[in-house]
Amino acid sequence: ALLVRHRMRSSGKWYRAMAILKEFEEKCGTPILKLKQVADAMDVEMHAGLASEGGSKLKMLISYVDNLPSGHEKGIFYALDLGGTNFRVIRVKLGGREKGVAHQEFDEVSIPPHLMTGSSEALFDFIAEALAKFIDSEPEAFHPPPGRQRELGFTFSFPVRQTSIASGTLIRWTKGFNIEDVVGQDVVGELTKSLEKIGIDMRVSALVNDTIGTLAGGRFHNPDVVAAVILGTGTNAAYVERAQAIPKWHGPLPKSGEMVINTEWGNYRSSHLPLTEYDDHLDEESLNPGEQVFEKLISGMYLGEIVRRVLLKMAEEAEFFGDTVPAKLKQPFILRTPDVSAMHHDTSPDLKVVGNTLKDVLEVSNTSLKTRKIVVEVCDIVVTRGARLSAAGILGILKKIGRDTVKVGEKQKTVIALDGGLFEHYTKFRSCLESTMNELLGDEVAETIVIEHSNDGSGIGAALLAASHSQYLGLDES
Ligand code: GLC
Repeated sequence: ALLVRHRMRSSGKWYRAMAILKEFEEKCGTPILKLKQVADAMDVEMHAGLASEGGSKLKMLISYVDNLPSGHEKGIFYALDLGGTNFRVIRVKLGGREKGVAHQEFDEVSIPPHLMTGSSEALFDFIAEALAKFIDSEPEAFHPPPGRQRELGFTFSFPVRQTSIASGTLIRWTKGFNIEDVVGQDVVGELTKSLEKIGIDMRVSALVNDTIGTLAGGRFHNPDVVAAVILGTGTNAAYVERAQAIPKWHGPLPKSGEMVINTEWGNYRSSHLPLTEYDDHLDEESLNPGEQVFEKLISGMYLGEIVRRVLLKMAEEAEFFGDTVPAKLKQPFILRTPDVSAMHHDTSPDLKVVGNTLKDVLEVSNTSLKTRKIVVEVCDIVVTRGARLSAAGILGILKKIGRDTVKVGEKQKTVIALDGGLFEHYTKFRSCLESTMNELLGDEVAETIVIEHSNDGSGIGAALLAASHSQYLGLDES
């Protein structure tokens, strides 16, 4: 009788765990109709953000880039790419139309976590030091002639109110960064101060968001690129807008008639978004409550954390991992998106990778196959929702630029440059994004839209923009 009662008790718990899972799955649902509503609402918000400063949650930041790379860029340029857990310093030799990117090399440095929430000076001094070391390794053939300054494209992947192509103030931090005293400051000024302190004579000739860098890098290789999307630690998109469609732009009309816009779509929010209690709590306890809601549903910084929160609830309310709640599972951000990816792609019949990950990361051993399957299920729900919402975001952009339909007889290709670790490394995320795009667009339109992986385009893109905004002639004469 005891055994029977025990079984009943545990099957009651299993039942409860299943109920939690089912409810979560339902709330995360992203049927096509909902995705279309998300895209439509995004299109509306984009208009509002372009109409006036602060007109929408979508900041629609003006990049001051009104000309994308033409291929004529020439010379030696540096780039610095700051925005995730690592930063990169890059050196490129641009060879004009003939030779393209003739040479490139880079150094990657991981940012010590304490610098992400410390002081401005500490962060920029650290970056300047790394750059100084990289410059030291410059081959002699690349040394600038006497009297000539080295030039840098600075990719700074946070919302910035640009005041020119080479200056701009930080609106707020996103992702894991939170350094109070940089907010409202000119980030180029901060970097330049640190460079001067250690005697580096370098001019920042372009300050760009990573989406803008990726767009520039993508355009250099393919003239049909009109938008760029980052799916990495954070998420964001930029695209080429008609200058006349930007009422809040009061500057001179650019010759090209175009202006690149950084949407900062990570901050998008709409009543159509499938938000759950787990998302609400994640948001409340985050560094930036109420902000970056779209980003918190989609990007690499958060997917693992959502999974953790769901598993925690199942552990607490349904003894999902046994009669005690694993201590590790209570630790925010312990489960990272790469762990989720490893579990999600586990093809072994006994889900060995899932078992090992649970053991190594959460210190839960001896999980049953049944338990492991549920864990994979949770990963799948979270990641599918994120990938499908990203597709809806892309559709929103296509709508804004009128590329979500095809006119009779027109065969214009629309290329979107994508970059970021989530897109690059998370196979199931990527294939779900692509199939959802096709589902949303229908065959005929889908044929005209190309999603292209732009591998580390953002650094090269910044160097290209540094060249076209060089104080010297950064272009060949052809
Ligand atoms: C965050 C930043 C944004 C950046 C994106 C991808 O959303 O606010 O500027 O482009 O992450 O790195």
